[in-house]
Amino acid sequence: MAKHEKRVIFTAEEIARQVELLASRISADYAGKEVVLIGVLKGAFIFLADLVRQLTIPIQLDFVRVASYGTGTESSGKIRITTDVELDLQGLDVLIVEDIVDSGLTTAFLKQHLATRKARSVKICTLIDKRERRAVSIPLEYVGLQLEKGFVVGYGLDCNEANRQLPGIYELIL
Ligand code: PRP
Repeated sequence: MAKHEKRVIFTAEEIARQVELLASRISADYAGKEVVLIGVLKGAFIFLADLVRQLTIPIQLDFVRVASYGTGTESSGKIRITTDVELDLQGLDVLIVEDIVDSGLTTAFLKQHLATRKARSVKICTLIDKRERRAVSIPLEYVGLQLEKGFVVGYGLDCNEANRQLPGIYELIL
């Protein structure tokens, strides 16, 4: 893959501040309850790890992995589950944890998929809400950062698997 120039969009400090705010909102909203956090691999792994360490409520944790047929900066919109949730979600409050909602197709697909598991509630927490290519209207209960457009990497997000480890979030200059 060709190397792209990067410019910082959100610093590690800005991200940490938003993660803290999200964690305190979630802890307040689910006070007295247990919540099942489901991280969407791979991108959410850093956000989820930081988020859970700030929560003050009991949690269970699981993961789901989805694949959309596409590479690089383009997604085809066809989604399939490659690793499914293992916990029994019946009667539980579920929070899907995403690094980014872009077209919204992954989130909409997952919400529908998890609804079949008879959870009591299924809500969404995304670090980044990117509106440019939104194709489906989906309520996002917890949003850390808004982004109008651009292809971003870092803090879990990749471009052809590169740059996930960066502590900040950067826009690739394509
Ligand atoms: C990213 C991100 C979301 C999805 C959002 O995952 O983690 O799951 O795309 O895009 P959408 O709103 O347009 O559906 P990706 O397919 O890049 O896989 P990864 O998390 O393994 O990097």
